[in-house]
Amino acid sequence: MSYPATHRIVTAQPPGGPEVLAVENEKLRPLKSGEVLIRTAACGINRPDQIERLGFYPAPPGSPKGLGLECSGHIAAIGSAVEFWREGDAVCALVPGGGYSDYVIAPQGSVLAAPQSIPLDEAAGLPETVFTVWANVFEAGALLQGETILVHGGASGIGTTAIQMAKAAGATVIATAGSEERCELCRLLGADLAINYKLDDFEQRVREAGGADVVLDMVGGEYVQKNINVMREKGRMVSIAFLSGSRVEVDLLLVMLKKLTLTGSTLRARPEAEKARLAAAIRETVWPWIETGKLRPVIDSRFDLDDVRSAHERLDQGAQAGKILLIP
Ligand SMILES: NC(=O)c1ccc[n+]([C@@H]2O[C@H](COP(=O)([O-])OP(=O)(O)OC[C@H]3O[C@@H](n4cnc5c(N)ncnc54)[C@H](OP(=O)(O)O)[C@@H]3O)[C@@H](O)[C@H]2O)c1
Repeated sequence: MSYPATHRIVTAQPPGGPEVLAVENEKLRPLKSGEVLIRTAACGINRPDQIERLGFYPAPPGSPKGLGLECSGHIAAIGSAVEFWREGDAVCALVPGGGYSDYVIAPQGSVLAAPQSIPLDEAAGLPETVFTVWANVFEAGALLQGETILVHGGASGIGTTAIQMAKAAGATVIATAGSEERCELCRLLGADLAINYKLDDFEQRVREAGGADVVLDMVGGEYVQKNINVMREKGRMVSIAFLSGSRVEVDLLLVMLKKLTLTGSTLRARPEAEKARLAAAIRETVWPWIETGKLRPVIDSRFDLDDVRSAHERLDQGAQAGKILLIP
């Protein structure tokens, strides 16, 4: 295949609502050592893309231009020193930027073989959520078989992935979501208990269920004290976002008495070598869960890449369950 001269990318300049998104033709730079070019089948949309569009989540220095953190497709070209991949391989990849495109450049260490048990476009919905859940629930949170995890935002892209991965690892799962329909989705994915936080006090319900060893929190605000209250001895709370605010006042007494750990992390800014290490662990442990049907990306909807504004309007409405995909 001849190397494409240009590719379509999505920019957000100046920052703002979905109306600032523009599909542009951009010169495609040559591959550097260790990089591959992916001709995409689909590109995943994530909540951090909305925050970047609004101007609050700048890409790490040196990232490819344009929005987008993940994609799936076929390898169209390989750079020098690429060890694992060949032209034509079906893959999905985590990228630090430029993921909404027909051709995406990815570091070889952040590329995973597309699972054969799901359609190639659906694989675009895996990398960002699987890497995030692995790094936060299984590494930082050290979730063990037989423990209980509380997953907030259970119907989100992250939440739907966390529920399935925790169940596959043999944990009991409690999830929160904002409607009965969204709670039902959590149960279908394996949640043992799903709490509609708009009708029920999740703190009381989780206490009644015996508490949680790990809490995956994307809400912050008043949830932080409640999370501390429901955690069992030596519990771990992992913060990955603060939809209700990151400034909170909490009583740390229970942190001391129950020997709790409060931690958190972000994925995008991690060095490539760190992402390659995560990818190796995911290939080993998580990919077999997909092949055996224990984990599947939940796809909310698909939009043409040229219709990216409509896709972000849906993201802004917050009504999606699972992932929104762009099809180039
Ligand atoms: N730290 C990292 O490395 C990292 C990486 C990726 C994503 N993230 C963050 O993780 C979060 C989820 O990402 P995503 O792409 O999966 O987003 P998403 O699908 O848009 O989901 C956001 C979810 O938050 C829930 N929510 C909003 N306000 C809530 C509240 N007050 N209480 C409980 N739930 C609430 C919503 O569910 P209901 O409508 O059911 O309430 C919605 O499902 C985002 O905030 C994102 O920025 C962090």
